[in-house]
Amino acid sequence: MSERPLALVTGASGGIGLELARCAAADGHDLVLVARRGGALEAVAGELASRYRVGAQTIVADLEDPAAVGLIGARLERPVDVLVNNAGFGIWRAFGATEPAEVDGMVAVNVAALTSLTRAHLPGMVARGRGGVLNVASVAGFLSGPNAAVYYATKNYVVALTEGLAVEVRGTGVTVSALCPGPVETGFQDRAGMGETSMKSMAMMDARTCAETGWRGFRAGRVLVIPGAGNKALAKVPRLMPRQLMARMVAGVQRPDH
Ligand SMILES: NC(=O)c1ccc[n+]([C@@H]2O[C@H](COP(=O)([O-])OP(=O)(O)OC[C@H]3O[C@@H](n4cnc5c(N)ncnc54)[C@H](OP(=O)(O)O)[C@@H]3O)[C@@H](O)[C@H]2O)c1
Repeated sequence: MSERPLALVTGASGGIGLELARCAAADGHDLVLVARRGGALEAVAGELASRYRVGAQTIVADLEDPAAVGLIGARLERPVDVLVNNAGFGIWRAFGATEPAEVDGMVAVNVAALTSLTRAHLPGMVARGRGGVLNVASVAGFLSGPNAAVYYATKNYVVALTEGLAVEVRGTGVTVSALCPGPVETGFQDRAGMGETSMKSMAMMDARTCAETGWRGFRAGRVLVIPGAGNKALAKVPRLMPRQLMARMVAGVQRPDH
């Protein structure tokens, strides 16, 4: 059996998750890669295993399914040392124009699956006195977002959960971090149906830079990792103005341009 630590990365078939899996592999971790698209996952696993000489297992799972976390657990051959809760998506539409099922699906992936996976693996890390959880939140986790209100609320949950757990595990040898990016160029914008909003035309970070910043911060034990000076400033906005005014400001940025 491999002596290397094991990192489980959700949403590793593309975007930020693929790059976080690369960081974990480059840092000497074997990988368990989770997502729905099996072909894309296999390609990522093959590339990272051969480039970094680590083990890479793939598990095809839909995290909207409440049974998925148990099914993933049943496929694991050894304990997880690092859990990267990255899978997630947004819906950029007025609340009343969303489909009920897609909203439920987003909460299931962004909130419920992330929480269940953390509950499944964090206590074992604490018992072993090593490892950690890296949750991919967003700078949206500090704000309220009209026209993507549920997405912003899910990321507020991820930030709050991370901050709470980080204090609970202090001194155990285990860390819990949240990576809070601003706009990153991935498949996220198209899946969210962002269209031509001011937000889509904002400067975007590349996924590798975002992931490398997040992985470095996580390894350094930082609770909140916010890549980019502009995003750090944005995360402070709620401390500088009334929350209602902040929400109206975000609404302006998200207004369709056309
Ligand atoms: N891009 C941004 O601007 C941005 C900014 C801040 C935060 N984030 C956060 O970053 C994380 C990664 O997003 P990304 O930008 O890399 O977007 P992405 O390119 O769309 O990647 C999303 C990943 O999540 C997986 N996923 C989605 N739904 C899933 C489900 N039901 N079950 C299992 N896996 C699922 C996707 O894989 P499959 O399609 O193969 O299932 C894919 O690997 C998300 O949590 C997102 O909220 C993104």
